[in-house]
Amino acid sequence: MEVLEAIRSRRSIRRFKPDPVPERLLLEILDAGRWAPSGGNIQPWLFIVVKDSKTLKLVKMFSPGLFGDPPVVVAICSDRKRAREVGGKLAEEYLSIVDCAMAAQNMMLAAHALGLGSCIIKSFSAQAIRKVLKLPDHVEPELLLSLGYPDEQPQPPPRRPLEDIAFLDQYGEPLLKGGGEG
Ligand SMILES: Cc1cc2nc3c(=O)[nH]c(=O)nc-3n(C[C@H](O)[C@H](O)[C@H](O)COP(=O)(O)O)c2cc1C
Repeated sequence: MEVLEAIRSRRSIRRFKPDPVPERLLLEILDAGRWAPSGGNIQPWLFIVVKDSKTLKLVKMFSPGLFGDPPVVVAICSDRKRAREVGGKLAEEYLSIVDCAMAAQNMMLAAHALGLGSCIIKSFSAQAIRKVLKLPDHVEPELLLSLGYPDEQPQPPPRRPLEDIAFLDQYGEPLLKGGGEG
């Protein structure tokens, strides 16, 4: 699948088939995350793959934003200690979050290109997830990524038109003279 096609056609999936995610595909998806850019190439991310049904149940219990029953959830975490040691306060407090988001997007696009569905989830109790996954204090759960074969084909939620969000040279100067896509 072409990158641009993948970007356009990926959707957040919230209903999954019970079929397991083949190990080879899962590794490809994690590898796509590993190849994301990161500030100073610190690569603060850690990926905790949750497949055990009891652990999945617990993760779901503490994640109101996790919909459906995905066979896999990846907890995308940042190692804040590593970030601080290599990149200081900026890396610890800001780059870690941005880097994990970059990895998440790579993983979602890879999943989509491989025929899998995914949804990124921020609505979870970090405190509970920390306990369930036995995360040490310096490891922060940033995002959850649900993964599985899609059991729905959602319509694309609308996007703000380009003319509302893109400017030329300075704020407020139109880049486009009308006719942006919805
Ligand atoms: C940072 C972030 C947090 C999100 N958290 C949730 C969430 O907790 N639960 C959920 O169902 N979707 C979540 N989403 C998915 C968005 O709702 C979704 O990306 C948006 O509605 C656009 O739909 P699309 O991904 O199909 O294009 C999140 C997306 C992002 C980028």
